[in-house]
Amino acid sequence: MNPGPLAGRVALVAGGTGAIGRHVATGLAAAGAAVAVHCHRSAGLAAEIVRECGGGLAVCAALPGERAAERLFATVEAELGPVTILVNAAEPGGALGVAAVADVEAGTLERHLDGVRAHHDLCRRALPGMRAAGFGRIVFVSGALMARPMPGMGAYAAAKAAASALTRYVAAEEGGHGITANVVAPGRVAEPDAPEPDDPALLEMSRALRQRMALPRFPTAQEVARTVVALTFPEFDQVTGQTVWLTGGEFTS
Ligand SMILES: NC(=O)c1ccc[n+]([C@@H]2O[C@H](COP(=O)([O-])OP(=O)(O)OC[C@H]3O[C@@H](n4cnc5c(N)ncnc54)[C@H](OP(=O)(O)O)[C@@H]3O)[C@@H](O)[C@H]2O)c1
Repeated sequence: MNPGPLAGRVALVAGGTGAIGRHVATGLAAAGAAVAVHCHRSAGLAAEIVRECGGGLAVCAALPGERAAERLFATVEAELGPVTILVNAAEPGGALGVAAVADVEAGTLERHLDGVRAHHDLCRRALPGMRAAGFGRIVFVSGALMARPMPGMGAYAAAKAAASALTRYVAAEEGGHGITANVVAPGRVAEPDAPEPDDPALLEMSRALRQRMALPRFPTAQEVARTVVALTFPEFDQVTGQTVWLTGGEFTS
């Protein structure tokens, strides 16, 4: 039997219980990795995803926090071994909300910046082990809003831009250790039969995006996850510091 390109590797999927993270976890497991499915509060769902993966580990941790990241990695390492694949699909910023910079509730930016801090904490804890292994794959799941403004998403977009920049810095700093770091940036993600959003601002955004896309529909969470998983494969060792836009061909220039 083909052992899969990730056989013998341990992967940690931060936000492994999310819409995208779940498919990333099962995709990595299908490729042969032992997968740790991280969650915030959804312990039952994390356990269910571990069963879908055919084994692995479910582990909850509230991010950001250096101590939380330390406990998270120590638990995974003790149970599964050294982590050489880190996918960060966690969203500690919580609900997206839509409000112009002038009108946004106080504290919104700080809430979204928790995602940057979490990414920093995870990378910082992951990198020494990857250096020791001479191999590492980091993929940050960002959002296309960081590059093409849609009114009302400033705080979210600013945080995604910051964490994406951090990922590119990791790529620049760690290439000599066999470590790649890339960003996957989806626009709207939706199942083909999903209804349009109820929120009028999100509905308007969805319509505007459709008009700009080359492809006839938005990508699904599973399709986003497939790209994430591919970037972790050993054969993609020349792809680093890149942003893969999953926006239905919206950026054509
Ligand atoms: N889905 C989309 O349409 C879309 C589009 C563009 C970009 N993105 C980006 O893609 C990434 C994944 O999106 P998604 O829709 O899959 O996310 P999601 O379904 O909202 O899942 C969020 C994940 O983050 C975890 N989480 C929440 N708060 C946390 C905290 N304080 N500490 C640690 N973990 C926490 C959740 O754990 P629990 O399950 O335990 O709560 C869950 O696993 C996000 O960065 C998002 O911004 C998504």
